[in-house]
Amino acid sequence: APAQLGKFPHFMLEEIYAQPAILAALAARSQQGLSPVSPALRSDLAHVTHVLLLACGSSFHSAQVASYWLESLGGVTVQVELTSEYRYRDSLPPPQTLVIAISQSGETADTLASLRHTQAQGLSASVAITNTPGSSITRLARHHLLTLAGLERAIFSTKTFTAQLLMLYQLALALGEARGRLGPERLALAKQEMARLPALVNATLQLAPQIREWAQQLAQRHSLFVIGRNMHYPVAMEGAFKLKEVAYLHAEGYPAGELKHGPITMVDSTLPVIACLPWNNHAEKALANLQEVRARNGEIFAFSDAALAPVERLHVIRVPGGLNDLSPIIYTVALQLFAYYCGVARGNNIDTPRNLAKSLSSD
Ligand code: G6P
Repeated sequence: APAQLGKFPHFMLEEIYAQPAILAALAARSQQGLSPVSPALRSDLAHVTHVLLLACGSSFHSAQVASYWLESLGGVTVQVELTSEYRYRDSLPPPQTLVIAISQSGETADTLASLRHTQAQGLSASVAITNTPGSSITRLARHHLLTLAGLERAIFSTKTFTAQLLMLYQLALALGEARGRLGPERLALAKQEMARLPALVNATLQLAPQIREWAQQLAQRHSLFVIGRNMHYPVAMEGAFKLKEVAYLHAEGYPAGELKHGPITMVDSTLPVIACLPWNNHAEKALANLQEVRARNGEIFAFSDAALAPVERLHVIRVPGGLNDLSPIIYTVALQLFAYYCGVARGNNIDTPRNLAKSLSSD
């Protein structure tokens, strides 16, 4: 391994382990009352009724997670679009739309083109979320927010993905505040949650040995499902995406409640189902979905903060609880480790995967 990696065999693992410190730094700014949201952006936020999120790849999944926060905290109508599609659409966004373009590199051609497309349609309020200061997207958007995760060397987004999530959460809070929906008590709760996050991410990283065991057991399967409900549906999509990118393993991220409408036909003892099962007000529904899987001899590997009694064909790794809005970050980290160890178990070249580039700045 290259010397600069220190105790980590791959950049991807080093970047996974960098997350608690990065999230702590981002959260600390808001504890000190230093909102990343400038007064100019805040005044745009006060006037919007719709949000259009534009991104591709992993950034699209962070946009999808954020859509739940923007709806529930910001109280706006939200649309999430893949930029390789959106740029060619004849869509009609309402005038009071805030465009949020998310790109780790700030150079993805489709995302830049989609942002220009919205500007040509007369939408001027835009904010770019990127990890790259001075990138093209920061010049194109009216406002920009930097995720400050440091250079990401692995091809896959790990630390920049969770930094995007925390930044989007802070933006959703600022939107709710600017629109007069969130009072001081709700904001204080959110701050407490942000303050708790880094230690809980750290505790999730301590689960690496257990997660590696699952990976060693499952890495040679022909296919996997990754499922979740609500905010954990896009988390499942990102987990499946990581399995494809890192492990070259076919994985499908699916909303748990949709399995019964088709994919359940594929479930049998050979197709493992990885489940994100936070103990929240969607848990009962999610458990019913898992029951449907078990009834078809499917084997479930659940990440959950609940003390679930182990039963046949239900394996559980208990992840830290104590978060509501930000729990997607915990499950994301668990799935990052799972994908990493699956890639290692399959003998893949982790830091330079076949067929992928860090950013696609041309079409
Ligand atoms: C590439 C990478 C993906 C990444 C996507 C979006 O295709 O392989 O991992 O998520 O670009 O990149 P961006 O820099 O726009 O977030």
